[in-house]
Amino acid sequence: MKSVRIHQYGAPEVITFEDAPMPEITPTQVLIQVYATSFNPLDSLLVRGILKERAPLQFPFSLCSDVSGVIVKTGAEVNTLKEGDKVFGFLDYTKNGAAAEYVATEAAYLAHAPESISLEEAAAVPLASLTAWQGLFEHINLQPGQRILINNASGGVGNYAVQLAKWKGAHVIGTSGAENLDQIRSFGADEAIDYRKGIESGLSNKVDAIFNLVAADQHYMDGLLDYIHDGGTIISSVVPANPQLAAKRNIRSSAMWVHPDSEALKQIAALIDNSTIKINITQTFPLEKLAEVHQLSLEGKTNGKILIKVKS
Ligand SMILES: NC(=O)c1ccc[n+]([C@@H]2O[C@H](COP(=O)([O-])OP(=O)(O)OC[C@H]3O[C@@H](n4cnc5c(N)ncnc54)[C@H](OP(=O)(O)O)[C@@H]3O)[C@@H](O)[C@H]2O)c1
Repeated sequence: MKSVRIHQYGAPEVITFEDAPMPEITPTQVLIQVYATSFNPLDSLLVRGILKERAPLQFPFSLCSDVSGVIVKTGAEVNTLKEGDKVFGFLDYTKNGAAAEYVATEAAYLAHAPESISLEEAAAVPLASLTAWQGLFEHINLQPGQRILINNASGGVGNYAVQLAKWKGAHVIGTSGAENLDQIRSFGADEAIDYRKGIESGLSNKVDAIFNLVAADQHYMDGLLDYIHDGGTIISSVVPANPQLAAKRNIRSSAMWVHPDSEALKQIAALIDNSTIKINITQTFPLEKLAEVHQLSLEGKTNGKILIKVKS
């Protein structure tokens, strides 16, 4: 089968479109014929070896942890899914991924794909929407009526976070570049701030919570504390604001790390099917162009979700 793999850590040049052996499944796994996957900044961190302490890879390694496709084989202990099921999921990103015609994965990571969008489009959902879901509902514990600042509302995660926070009944303030302000308003942001002018340029009152999705340094992160009420919360998908500094004002600060969650994916699929959540696929590439996508991301030329089509 065809796959996009790396044989060593490095720049996007190490990413190769090549033949790879068909994966084998264990009793708790299924084999998926992959329809599509999507790019996430996590993939770039893995390729460049930035996560090699936390998540050492075994080479050769197939990229991409988002998947949508059809189950073609089930392990002996799998009783929740069957051959022919259309599924989507966020895979264990330390194992061979879905930048391949077939991928083997735990059945427990998967859910039935939403029915109102194509099976390919479903691959733009899992990692980004789960990060938004877990950040807002498991880490921040967002409540109706709270004011939340979503810092980087125009990225893959931010698009879902704005919509999920709005669905929860929060007052949603998003930051993006000037060209994406209308887009984040259309996704439900009550207020939209151009980050290049500074958050203080548009923020009238302090917020109860910040969900930070900007890859920034410690100084920047600690500065975000100024925008939060005493007793509030800041959760970051990247570097956390200093927890000791935050604690002086009774603010809870920590980082989060997304994990596979089929139960949350089922709820997200239902929200897609009842039109609560829209999907913002900004670009689509064939599998063999995945290295180009990594380069675009390094140059800061991506927003929304980039879909990688695998099945032609
Ligand atoms: N810990 C975890 O579990 C986890 C999970 C998922 C993602 N992440 C991390 O979370 C971050 C966001 O992920 P993503 O997939 O949403 O990224 P993304 O799609 O690549 O984000 C791109 C967006 O970032 C915006 N942006 C850049 N600098 C900004 C700033 N200073 N303020 C506000 N917006 C800014 C850009 O806006 P404009 O185009 O408008 O300039 C662009 O739309 C990444 O660093 C990723 O590695 C972590």
